[in-house]
Amino acid sequence: MTVAAHKGGAGKSTLSILLASLFAQARLRVVLIDTDEGQNTAFAWASRRAMIQPAVVTIDSAVRLTDLIDAAQGHGIDFCLIDTPAGYSAMGHAAIEAADLIVIPTKCDAADRWAVRTTVEAAREAGKPFLIVPTDAPPRRLGRECPELRLLRADLVDLAPHLWDGQLTERRGIGQSIAEGRAPSEIDWQGSTSEECRNLWRRIMEALPSGRATAGAP
Ligand SMILES: Nc1ncnc2c1ncn2[C@@H]1O[C@H](COP(=O)(O)OP(=O)(O)OP(=O)(O)O)[C@@H](O)[C@H]1O
Ligand SMILES: [Mg+2]
Repeated sequence: MTVAAHKGGAGKSTLSILLASLFAQARLRVVLIDTDEGQNTAFAWASRRAMIQPAVVTIDSAVRLTDLIDAAQGHGIDFCLIDTPAGYSAMGHAAIEAADLIVIPTKCDAADRWAVRTTVEAAREAGKPFLIVPTDAPPRRLGRECPELRLLRADLVDLAPHLWDGQLTERRGIGQSIAEGRAPSEIDWQGSTSEECRNLWRRIMEALPSGRATAGAP
């Protein structure tokens, strides 16, 4: 599964870390492949951790990506999750080509809304299923989504079947836990962020091509 968004700061690395941690906690064998040489956010996060799961590896060559995935499959890895750099790059392209599913995080600001379609086009050109994930979204009020997220849904109405009907809510604790080399689900499995991530996991399982969902969500 590749987490991709051409827009910088869309929430790719955060989402990759949240999901990889959750999968690992559910005892899936997961490898998070950090392909963003410029920043290596996921790798930097892993280097601050005492725990060895999820495994986080970096690679510096797009050519090696499929070899790495093949090797992971050979070793019985359940899930390879690929964090990608922003913008166009050989690495980003290879990561999309290698994936069974493209997960596209997006914040709700206008610039983020406008940028989503660029990544959707890349997924479509590669013939890959994709799921758009609203993230860093302001909290619901009285059960109602924030105006920015409603605008996002209106802008992307033609993509509604590919747009997760949930949200990852903006929470300061997410950045804080990552800065400490932890993940929200490791701090509070019952917490709101963990619950949102579990819901997203279920949706991801539905979006994966049949036969590729190796394990159910908790
Ligand atoms: N749900 C959230 N709640 C609060 N902050 C968030 C959330 N999701 C992302 N952020 C914040 O948004 C910023 C950008 O996130 P992140 O680094 O994951 O984006 P990115 O797409 O990987 O960026 P880049 O394109 O530079 O690699 C970070 O400061 C992160 O903490
Ligand atoms: Mg990143």
